Amino acid sequence: MELKIVGGDLANAKTPCLILGVFDKRKLSRPAEAVDKASDGAVSALLKKGDLDGGKGWLLAYDLPGLAAERVLLIGLGKRKESDRGKLTKALGVALSRLAEIRVDKALLAPPERLDNYVSVRAAALKAAQAAYRYEETKKPKDDASLPLAALDIWVDKRVRAAAARALAHAGAIAEGVALARELGNLPGNRCTPSYLAERSVTLADEHPGLTTEVLEEDAMQALGMGALLSVSRGSRQPAKLIVMTYRGGDENAKPVALVGKGLTFDAGGISIKPATDMDEMKYDMAGGASVFGAMVAAMRMGLPINLIGVVPASENLPDGNANKPGDVVTSLSGQTIEILNTDAEGRLILCDALTYLERFEPAVVLDMATLTGACIVALGRHPSGLFTRDDKLAAEITYAGEAADDRVWRLPLWDDYQQQLDSNFADIANIGGRDAGAVTAACFLARFTKAYRWAHLDIAGTAWVTGKEKGATGRPVPLLSEFLIRRSGVETES
Ligand code: BES
Ligand code: MN
Ligand code: ZN
Repeated sequence: MELKIVGGDLANAKTPCLILGVFDKRKLSRPAEAVDKASDGAVSALLKKGDLDGGKGWLLAYDLPGLAAERVLLIGLGKRKESDRGKLTKALGVALSRLAEIRVDKALLAPPERLDNYVSVRAAALKAAQAAYRYEETKKPKDDASLPLAALDIWVDKRVRAAAARALAHAGAIAEGVALARELGNLPGNRCTPSYLAERSVTLADEHPGLTTEVLEEDAMQALGMGALLSVSRGSRQPAKLIVMTYRGGDENAKPVALVGKGLTFDAGGISIKPATDMDEMKYDMAGGASVFGAMVAAMRMGLPINLIGVVPASENLPDGNANKPGDVVTSLSGQTIEILNTDAEGRLILCDALTYLERFEPAVVLDMATLTGACIVALGRHPSGLFTRDDKLAAEITYAGEAADDRVWRLPLWDDYQQQLDSNFADIANIGGRDAGAVTAACFLARFTKAYRWAHLDIAGTAWVTGKEKGATGRPVPLLSEFLIRRSGVETES
């Protein structure tokens, strides 16, 4: 989608649709006021008829006098004093789905005063870009399908022009990252295999000179001693891949930020096989890996002055004569032995070797993203991702980034008290910790492999995709990661 900042006289703006904000009790936002004046009070006259008192909803009007716009779309923003970025994006979302239905694919948004800053403009543009995503790889749209927005112009006053332009550039970059993560997630498991992900990382590197990719094959992983990761892919005909992407935008000597994502392209559970209901959704078990792809692209598009490493261990988890069996003991790259009591707790097995592998890059900080446990959904539902870290400062940074990017997390404990649940009689550690606090014990497992650096884990089981009628990948937590990286690299975001 094309995003552009415009200025000048709103009344003269030629656009298929001018979007203006109206507050509670028909109070016009400042841009709406200017347009009202230019149209000789046509906007307020329309509002007086009472279909939209500004609290909620929208109102579409055609051919208002004195305006070059074909249509004016008024959106209700609630009480002026309480108006915030969330209300703006929500109202915009509703308005845009209306525009998509009537197949208008270009619009001009004039955000209300006080929401014409970096944060709101970025959120609005990102919302619009996200609403324009359609999955079409294996299903072509019908002729009368809603039309995604092709171009959004955003009008801002001269005084905030620079910040708004930066906001738009960032929104475009984040949207591209989110779209990539959603697309990879939505692709079926028979297309999006570990090899497919590896190929995509190579294509990305070809397209972006700033990015390099290395793919470790099974023999290389074997030689390194990644016994945990390889034990999972043994039950599958698809070879495992360890994808390592590098972006160097920062100082030569600056330590990299490392992102690691679970790239389990289909999780049937293995010998501890899952029930059939909703098993199709386990194609999304690579969403953590997809978010690494997305965040790399976003960072690169923004040209962030930061060094980044993205690691995606990719595998399937299927039942097979050669698959892991409950009770099997494998040796991880770290040297710790693991008793596999449940083959469905495979995410931690592929992640632990990737996390140990990362040590060689001496990362400044490591974030891992994984659709790791159903227990995280039980604990938190599907609104926030679960955040686990012992590092309070890092927790604050990530929590803040989640708030700012409308991609929230909620912290759960990672206390040593839980570690004993992972005791095994036959190995250094068991891969499951019993019924209690399943999301915590999964994080505790990973904590045993991340002692060499600052680290946080995001359990995105409840947030990476939407289930039900609107089933589809969300692209989360790419917005959070992008925000985290923007702040880490010290790029200006105020206006
Ligand atoms: N990928 C699943 C977790 C999952 C399940 C995410 C449902 C989203 C929705 C993971 O590999 C898994 O199977 N975890 C098990 C762990 C258990 C065996 C300790 C789970 O959550 O049941
Ligand atoms: Mn599993
Ligand atoms: Zn899984």
